[in-house]
Amino acid sequence: MSTRHLIGLITVIVVAAAIAVGRSSESRLSSQNKCRIIPGDASWPSPNIWQQLNKTVDGKLIATVPIAAACHTTLFGQSNSLFDQDACNALRDNWHFPETHLPSSSSPMAYQFSNNSCNPWLDPHTPCTLGSHVVYNVNATAVSHLHAAVAFARDHNIRLVIRNTGHDYLGKSTGAHSLGVWTHHLKSTDLITAYKGTGYTGAAIRVAAGVESIEAYTFANSHGLVVVGGNCPNVGLAGGYIQGGGHGPLSSRYGLAADQILEAEVITAAGDFITATLDNKHSDLLWALRGGGGGTFALLVSVTIKAYPELRVSSASLAVFNDGTNADAIYDSIGSFIQTTLPSLVDAGAFVVWIAGPFGFMISPAYAPDLTSAELDQLLLPTLQTFKDKGLQYQYSSAESPTFLDRYNELQKTASWNVSDYNLGGRLVSRHVAVNDTENLITAIRYISSRTLMSGVSYNLQKGLSSLDGGAVNPQFREALFGVSIGTAIDYQDWAVTLDGQDQITNEFLPQLAKLMPNGAAYLNEADYQASDFQHLFYGEQYPRLLSTKHKYDPEGLFYAKTAVGSEKWAEMSDGRLCRDPKYWK
Ligand SMILES: Cc1cc2nc3c(=O)[nH]c(=O)nc-3n(C[C@H](O)[C@H](O)[C@H](O)COP(=O)(O)OP(=O)(O)OC[C@H]3O[C@@H](n4cnc5c(N)ncnc54)[C@H](O)[C@@H]3O)c2cc1C
Ligand SMILES: *[C@@H]1O[C@H](CO)[C@@H](O)[C@H](O)[C@H]1NC(C)=O
Ligand SMILES: *[C@@H]1O[C@H](CO)[C@@H](O)[C@H](O)[C@H]1NC(C)=O
Ligand SMILES: *[C@@H]1O[C@H](CO)[C@@H](O)[C@H](O)[C@H]1NC(C)=O
Ligand SMILES: *[C@@H]1O[C@H](CO)[C@@H](O)[C@H](O)[C@H]1NC(C)=O
Ligand SMILES: *[C@@H]1O[C@H](CO)[C@@H](O)[C@H](O)[C@H]1NC(C)=O
Repeated sequence: MSTRHLIGLITVIVVAAAIAVGRSSESRLSSQNKCRIIPGDASWPSPNIWQQLNKTVDGKLIATVPIAAACHTTLFGQSNSLFDQDACNALRDNWHFPETHLPSSSSPMAYQFSNNSCNPWLDPHTPCTLGSHVVYNVNATAVSHLHAAVAFARDHNIRLVIRNTGHDYLGKSTGAHSLGVWTHHLKSTDLITAYKGTGYTGAAIRVAAGVESIEAYTFANSHGLVVVGGNCPNVGLAGGYIQGGGHGPLSSRYGLAADQILEAEVITAAGDFITATLDNKHSDLLWALRGGGGGTFALLVSVTIKAYPELRVSSASLAVFNDGTNADAIYDSIGSFIQTTLPSLVDAGAFVVWIAGPFGFMISPAYAPDLTSAELDQLLLPTLQTFKDKGLQYQYSSAESPTFLDRYNELQKTASWNVSDYNLGGRLVSRHVAVNDTENLITAIRYISSRTLMSGVSYNLQKGLSSLDGGAVNPQFREALFGVSIGTAIDYQDWAVTLDGQDQITNEFLPQLAKLMPNGAAYLNEADYQASDFQHLFYGEQYPRLLSTKHKYDPEGLFYAKTAVGSEKWAEMSDGRLCRDPKYWK
């Protein structure tokens, strides 16, 4: 290269840098950068620029077509060649299953967060539009794709959304007018037979961002190991699940998923690839990733988690049906179950999912690592005895398997994971209230469950804690005996009914529990997205420290998700545009 060319090049770089600096100092002031740009804005990238991004990501850029497009004669306001009633019927048959949304780059499992923009159940002449789906998604299969997506969104001032499995109940893995980065196909798993780090020496596995719980379980099992993952097989491991806390069948024995994290590889908003460990200079970031919520601090590339030897696991299921005459007996029995049986079960290492509703009550299932089914039967005996004493008919069964994976897979054969049928809200119930204020608690549970479905995911989250600090998990999570989830039915024919159902959770059902625990908490992954005091409710006393970690690693707020740390600085306008809330605008 000639000197003249070199000088020319340097000039270009200097001028470009000056413009960039000018822009970024201006960005704090200009009204344009007060908001993310949206399609139709003059600065929205041209098709050509999008194709350049597509090249950078090896052709992995996907322009969203909502999965229910086949059910509509028009798409994005034009005649739709994808309209196909047979395909639509097939989609309807499978709509409620996670597996329908999992391979999609855009479909949120929690239907509300599509903004009802492409409803498969309506008349084909209703429109299908983008609504709150991502506009584009980068189907990442390499770390360079993650880098490119982050840089593109940042440099063009476009809303960025991270999608892994799309399970999020609070709509955090979708967003209007956004560019997505989709981690689902990043599937690598590595065994580290003898990890050595601060406070832990032993087996560990490293999972890439797209690995699902069942994939991690299967990989661990192939090495004679188990790891903490979700109760639902295809909930992500290294995404929103683990960063939000993450409970599962082994949590009463080994703690939350977030407690297992030894280190994490991330891409920051600035585009740096860093490894955060418990004791390097990014330990503050690791702390935040261990419970501070997904889609907030950085883009997670992989996590390294503790692994433990395979072990025998037993399980039990129980059901009692409300026949219209036995409700008093059922709720009395639930009371004694919660007050005495449940604490002893979780203290023995069991993880118990119970469901109450107009149908009655069931345990579905209780997992008991390291216990025989006879031992599990023994622990449940007082509850069964109460049913008998009260003349209630019940169905009970238990079984055991030599490994966790066998028992887990066995239970999946009869499990059903409808994910798109319900609005959701949740609240943690402290052991104190469960044990010492049982009567009022049962009054609240009866109020809710005689009107709609609710579940209680029960655990003892103290046991798994090592000498290390507990990460950013809300300390009230550790005090909880169970987390309640409340669902109200989504009405695909009447959107207003769906929205009212969410309001009923917010304004009528959750307050029944809140009044027993006025300073209580909710598990941020299983909570009401409308919660007005989410900072306190989801994050508790950790919030100030989480916010300062957020400011350190993502000062410009590239990572945004509803109810995430720092999200109060932003608001979604009526057209879906994301803007820094004027209240906070300086
Ligand atoms: C059927 C079902 C069963 C469930 N079972 C359990 C359970 O047993 N235990 C439990 O604790 N929870 C459970 N959940 C709740 C679950 O923890 C949340 O849905 C969680 O958000 C799932 O994380 P994900 O990465 O799979 O989902 P996504 O919806 O893809 O992502 C969730 C959030 O994490 C962010 N995120 C995803 N990947 C990354 C990444 N690589 N880097 C940074 N941010 C990322 C997203 O931006 C979003 O904010 C369940 C949910 C459903 C629908
Ligand atoms: C990106 O490129 C691939 C391969 O050329 C192409 O199939 C795909 O449609 C492109 N994506 C977009 C959004 O144009
Ligand atoms: C679950 O999904 C199946 C298949 O779509 C449906 O038939 C069933 O009614 C759903 N169950 C619930 C409880 O919503
Ligand atoms: C969501 O739906 C409402 C009501 O139909 C509409 O006013 C709003 O513009 C929609 N938002 C987006 C982002 O599509
Ligand atoms: C995403 O990429 C994976 C891996 O190449 C591919 O199998 C999958 O079909 C892609 N998904 C979509 C929706 O394009
Ligand atoms: C219940 O109350 C008793 C008596 O005040 C107390 O000793 C016990 O610790 C309480 N139990 C819980 C779980 O809070």
